[in-house]
Amino acid sequence: MSDDRIYNFNAGPAALPFEVLKEIQEAFLNYSGSGMSIAEISHRSKWFDDVINDAIARTKRLLKLSEKFHVLFVQGGASMQFCMIPMNLLMERDTADYVNTGTWSTKAIEEAEILGKEINIVASSEDKNFSYIPKDISFNNNAVYAHITSNNTIKGTQWDAFPDTGGIPLIADMSSDIMCRPFDVDKFGLIYAGAQKNIGPAGVCMVIIREDMLKRVPDTLSSMLKYTTYVAKNSMYNTPPCFAIYTLQLVMKWLEDHIGGLENMEAINRKKARLLYDTIDSSDFYNGTAETDSRSLMNVTFRLPNEVLEKQFIEQGVENGLGGLKGHRSVGGCRASIYNATPLAAIEALTDFMKEFKKKNG
Ligand SMILES: Cc1ncc(COP(=O)(O)O)c(C=O)c1O
Repeated sequence: MSDDRIYNFNAGPAALPFEVLKEIQEAFLNYSGSGMSIAEISHRSKWFDDVINDAIARTKRLLKLSEKFHVLFVQGGASMQFCMIPMNLLMERDTADYVNTGTWSTKAIEEAEILGKEINIVASSEDKNFSYIPKDISFNNNAVYAHITSNNTIKGTQWDAFPDTGGIPLIADMSSDIMCRPFDVDKFGLIYAGAQKNIGPAGVCMVIIREDMLKRVPDTLSSMLKYTTYVAKNSMYNTPPCFAIYTLQLVMKWLEDHIGGLENMEAINRKKARLLYDTIDSSDFYNGTAETDSRSLMNVTFRLPNEVLEKQFIEQGVENGLGGLKGHRSVGGCRASIYNATPLAAIEALTDFMKEFKKKNG
């Protein structure tokens, strides 16, 4: 890592693997002998075809997706999926179940309601300020899908095991934890993730959709809003966000070739999270805000004894080369986002700083 870079704990856009940034830098002016930058190449060229197809192939290998899944790249962020999902999958008299675990689930629910769709909130952790993941949920057996947010970026909670829906296809917003660990994809009808946290830069949202869900898509929807258009045109009905997809492809390559797959990634992530949570738990000075059994591997949220100390902690963090430790503006406090690309060395530096700060101020 070069000397002028800091350890980046931003929640998103967030740290990218250093190896990926280096590769982009080296290839930027002349991509693959084309004499053009990847940012200048036509999306109708063989070069870009290879990029998008390799991104898809690597995603399928990493997540062990069977033939019945399609990998799509859509613009409009994860927020666009909040409306595309009910538009594409919920018709008149259909219902869907939603679990509310925080800001992003709430937004997904609101968008379905704006469209006048029939939805049920089958569980919520709002009673305790979204500090936990609900258990023992009863899903409605006539629901078309059950929507969850797999990792709650703001509150620092994450589903450890996915709920048993009794066969109803799960839909998950995995924006802040996709590719952090392996999981059984077969329960899912659709998975979506804004790339800018764990798999790339801002500008593209990965959507993984199971073949049978496509049958629900109505003809009456505009082309750009229909999943079937993205499937039919390999996500290139119009000009896709080429540079973002290229970066995402390199992140998938890094996960496969440098990390060695999602089992290895999970082991590294668990080690990183353990070190940080242990540091929090070993004192009364730092207090984790999520319930212990719902803690996120990706976003570690904590408080200090008062807001003055929190402000100093965040400011002195920056002075010590540790950026992005401020909690989301809606909740305050501190948050360290420790996505896949954040190396163990960053968490070691952070926990050393935390111990030092506590010694001076505790
Ligand atoms: C879990 C989750 N879902 C959705 C979003 C919104 O994503 P986007 O800005 O790509 O619309 C975020 C952004 O922080 C998020 O963390």
